[in-house]
Amino acid sequence: MKTGLTQRGRAHFAFLAEMAGWSGRELQKAAAADLATALESVELPENTQAKLKKGYELLEPSAAFAWDRFYTRVSGEHQYVAALEAYEDGVTAIEAEYADQADAGGTLVLDESVAAPKYWTDTEFHLAPGGWEGHPRMGFMIHDYIYDLLFATGGVGAVKPGESFADQRYVTAKEGRKDSYRNILELGVGTGRMASALQRAWPDAQIHGVDLGESELRHAKLIAARNGWKWDLRQAAAEELPYDEGTFDMVAAFILLHEVPVPVAKQIIGEAFRVLEPGGELIIGDVAPYTQQESLFRSVVLDWETDHRCEPFWRGALLIDRGQIFRDAGFVEVEEYGVGPGNYPWVTRGVKPA
Ligand SMILES: C[S@@+](CC[C@H](N)C(=O)[O-])C[C@H]1O[C@@H](n2cnc3c(N)ncnc32)[C@H](O)[C@@H]1O
Repeated sequence: MKTGLTQRGRAHFAFLAEMAGWSGRELQKAAAADLATALESVELPENTQAKLKKGYELLEPSAAFAWDRFYTRVSGEHQYVAALEAYEDGVTAIEAEYADQADAGGTLVLDESVAAPKYWTDTEFHLAPGGWEGHPRMGFMIHDYIYDLLFATGGVGAVKPGESFADQRYVTAKEGRKDSYRNILELGVGTGRMASALQRAWPDAQIHGVDLGESELRHAKLIAARNGWKWDLRQAAAEELPYDEGTFDMVAAFILLHEVPVPVAKQIIGEAFRVLEPGGELIIGDVAPYTQQESLFRSVVLDWETDHRCEPFWRGALLIDRGQIFRDAGFVEVEEYGVGPGNYPWVTRGVKPA
């Protein structure tokens, strides 16, 4: 849904999407070929980080790589310029929709006592000016405009050109092994995109979601309202959940773990274990570790996000052994596998012993 979108916004996003898509398709193909040629006369080190370093070094002379990275950065910065302009153009219609749906979509409990961690407040994630809460309607702008008009066509971050953003979440949501679920909690629910996939995959389940961001949660509630769903949404840190032990039969998270430092990722998995009932499942979808990427080129393209698109925890998240963290937290039947092309999304799932 593109509430309030005018021709100016549509044109700006179409331009950015075309640029990111073209660069992803054409320039990345040429850059990957440059790397393949350079690799013919080089022996790669075994160590993952040393291998990445060598990959950057070998790509240094590639004009295609330099231009691709330039366009990726430009598109990353401009998406927020476009979103802000589009919001300002559509503000009357957008605010009218929020007001009309204020009583629909379930419940949202905001909690001023939740102390947002420094790693979350101090980072302008994805180059968003001011970070996750840089604008009172950041959730709307990210979901309806940036995700729907730019990311949905691929070519940005882990989403390759031509891949479907929505399908990636749905296949992950369907990785539950039970026939049905009663209570599903999503950690880092954001604007409700994965929660929508979970609700579609498990129509009888009550969906619960936590996030630190007020504007994200407000938009998630609007997404539930648009679809006639009723979600239970709370402002909380995933590493400190406001729920009793054994409350849920599934806990899920999609692209949350790469947004937090490694020690926090471990706490989050521990909290998920606590709030699951015995026999309950934790399903995490994220970017595959470097060791599971289809090529060194793809690893370099992904790793670049750490230093150049404000994803400071990306590298750490792609170096750790998520399965081992699950086992350390007490999970059994731990499995890890890719459910999409190029192993994205990469699913890690485990069961709390019955
Ligand atoms: C990349 S978005 C993903 C949103 C959603 N899962 C989806 O699939 O679209 C990550 C979300 O996690 C939230 N987040 C980051 N760290 C968090 C934490 N420690 N606790 C709760 N939410 C967190 C962010 O505010 C953001 O809304």
